[in-house]
Amino acid sequence: MPRRLTGFTPSGHLHLGNYFGAMRPIIGAQGADTVVFISDLHALTLDHDPADVRQRTLEFATLLLAAGLDPDACQFMVQSHVPEHTELHYLLECVTGYGEAQRMIQFKEKSRRQEHIRMSLLTYPILMAADILLYDTDEVPVGEDQRQHVELARDVAIRFNTRYGATFTVPRAVNPPVAARVMDLSAPTDKMSKSTSSAAGALRLLDEPDQLRRKIMRAVTDAGTTVTYDPEHSPGVANLLDILAGCTDADPRELATKFERYGELKAAVADAVVDTLAPVRARYLELAARPDHVREVLRAGAARARVRAGETVGRARSAIGLLPT
Ligand code: ADP
Ligand code: TRP
Repeated sequence: MPRRLTGFTPSGHLHLGNYFGAMRPIIGAQGADTVVFISDLHALTLDHDPADVRQRTLEFATLLLAAGLDPDACQFMVQSHVPEHTELHYLLECVTGYGEAQRMIQFKEKSRRQEHIRMSLLTYPILMAADILLYDTDEVPVGEDQRQHVELARDVAIRFNTRYGATFTVPRAVNPPVAARVMDLSAPTDKMSKSTSSAAGALRLLDEPDQLRRKIMRAVTDAGTTVTYDPEHSPGVANLLDILAGCTDADPRELATKFERYGELKAAVADAVVDTLAPVRARYLELAARPDHVREVLRAGAARARVRAGETVGRARSAIGLLPT
C-alpha cells in the first residue's frame, strides 16, 4: 500500500472544498499507511491570534474525527507535538535554494498581501517537505494549489538522496478524482477558501443545514438560463454541478442534462450538500462535548508519530554529517 499523508492548517473555517479536496480522499483510503495531522506551525506563518490557533487546532482535529478518521487505524497528531518536524525543517533548509522558495506561487500571492512578511512564510514549503519526508510518504493527496509544494518536497528529497545517500522516500502529489477545485459561491472564478472566501461564498462544515441551503440558493449563477456544464463561460453553474457531482459521486456533464432551470439545480445541490454534511456536524457536536477525549487521542497519536519521525531524522542527521550524541 502506498503511504499517504496530509496536513490541515488550523485557520479560518473548514469548508466543502477542504472536505472534497483533502478530508474525504484521505479518510476513504485510511489504513496503517495513512498519516493525518493538524499543521499548527503553518498557521504561524501569517499574522495570527494565539487563542484562535489553539481553538481551531482542537476544532479541526474534532472535525476530522467526526468525518470518520479512525485514530487507531491510522497515524493522527498535531504537528507541533512532534518536534522532529522542526528539526528536519532545518536540515532541509540546508538543501533548498533561496530562489526555489521565492518562486512558490503561494508565497508570491500571500506575501503581496502582507506588509510585514514573516521569514516562516518563505520557508513554509520547506516545513511542508519535512512533514512529508519524515513519514516516508509516497503520495500526498492535495488540491491544485498545493501541488507546487509537493513538487518542491520531491526535488528536495531527490537532491538530499543524491548528495548525502539514500535517506528519504520520494513523494508525489495525487489528485482526488472529482471536484478537485470547489469555487466560491459568490465569486465562482475564485476558489472556495478558508482564508479569503466571505461567509456567503463558502459552505462551512459547521454551518447549520438552513445556512447551507440559503447560501446555495443565493449562489451566483450566470446570465443564461439553461443548465450546461461549461466552466469557462458559465463558472457558477459548473461549480454547482461539480458540487453535486462531488456529493453524489456522479459526472457533472451528465448531471447537467437532468435539470431545466437554475432553481431546480440549486434545490438538488442544497439537498445533496445537507445530506453530506449534516451527519458530520452532528458527530462533531457529540465529540466537542468531550474535549478531554480528543486531547487524549492527540497525545497518543503524537507519541506514536515520534517513534517513526525520530528514525527518519536520525538517518538525515547522520547522512548530512552531524556527530551522533
Ligand atoms: P484554503 O485555501 O481554504 O485556505 P488550504 O490551502 O489550507 O485551504 O487547503 C487545505 C486542503 O484543502 C488542501 O489540501 C487544499 O488543496 C484543499 N482545498 C482547499 N480549498 C479547496 C477547494 N476550493 N477545492 C478543493 N480543495 C481545496
Ligand atoms: N500547507 C497545507 C495547507 O495549508 C497543509 C500542510 C502542511 C500539508 N503540511 C503538509 C499538506 C504536508 C500536505 C502535506 O493546505
